[in-house]
Amino acid sequence: MSKAAHFQKPENISIDPHRMGFEFNSDELPRDWLFNSPMLTTWIESLSILFPEGEQFFVDTVRYYRDQIDDPEIQKQISGFIGQEAMHSLEHKTFNSYMKEKNLPSDELDAFVGGLLGSVRKVLPKRMQLAGTCALEHITAMLANMLLEEENGEVRDNMHELMRPLWMWHAIEETEHKGVCYDLYQHVGGNYAERTFALILATSILATVLAYYHTRMQYRNGTLFKVKDVLWGLNKLYGRRGIVTKLIPEWLTYFRPGFHPWANDNSNLVERWKDEILSHQAEKYQRAKKVSKLHAA
Ligand SMILES: [Fe+2]
Ligand SMILES: [Fe+2]
Repeated sequence: MSKAAHFQKPENISIDPHRMGFEFNSDELPRDWLFNSPMLTTWIESLSILFPEGEQFFVDTVRYYRDQIDDPEIQKQISGFIGQEAMHSLEHKTFNSYMKEKNLPSDELDAFVGGLLGSVRKVLPKRMQLAGTCALEHITAMLANMLLEEENGEVRDNMHELMRPLWMWHAIEETEHKGVCYDLYQHVGGNYAERTFALILATSILATVLAYYHTRMQYRNGTLFKVKDVLWGLNKLYGRRGIVTKLIPEWLTYFRPGFHPWANDNSNLVERWKDEILSHQAEKYQRAKKVSKLHAA
């Protein structure tokens, strides 16, 4: 198989960035906007805090290697990946600022992850950093699939309608570009031992940081000792049929020697949701897109 043949994505998938221009208004958005639960809401809010610095790290690791790619189609996919992650950072920064207004420690925790990733940049070799990005992209693709899937859409269905577009848009684009980093990693000589070790390492660090953030967020939220909600939330996340527990089989597929992100072709989910979610794009960005299309014509 030629190296280029590794770069496979379904033809119905395009990797285009979209600036959405989301705004979050505390008069309209209830505080407990996921499952009406402080525990679940602060859990997903903790994830949001990780995105701006985390996604900048992803972009940097991919940029470092992109010069090694000659194929213009692959270069286009990498540009799409970088553009999408940059937009995710921007939109989540807006939401993280909203949390700061709510007196949650989003700024402080954002700075913490920036420091942590600064150390990772210094300590780990470049290709290991890229392997780490691939591993975290596998995890984000799993979370994205969980949000988009038709049958088990309980997280999506229990999310307040004002928050759903942000997370669904992010999930759609994570699905669209889920193969890009992995294909690049294979192209620059990545190997099974390194990538699977990176998954274990990245998952351990993510789980530890997320648990710390979640605890801090709940504490500041004044809900850390709401025992009933905390126990309910723990079961909802990590119980036998918990949101995180149900992701384990997909997490394990990364250990298959022939793994590829698109082995699970869920492009139908992108088709199912994309138009509906893009209708939430702020008018000024829809207009900007139409003008640039007109100039291109
Ligand atoms: Fe992203
Ligand atoms: Fe991503």
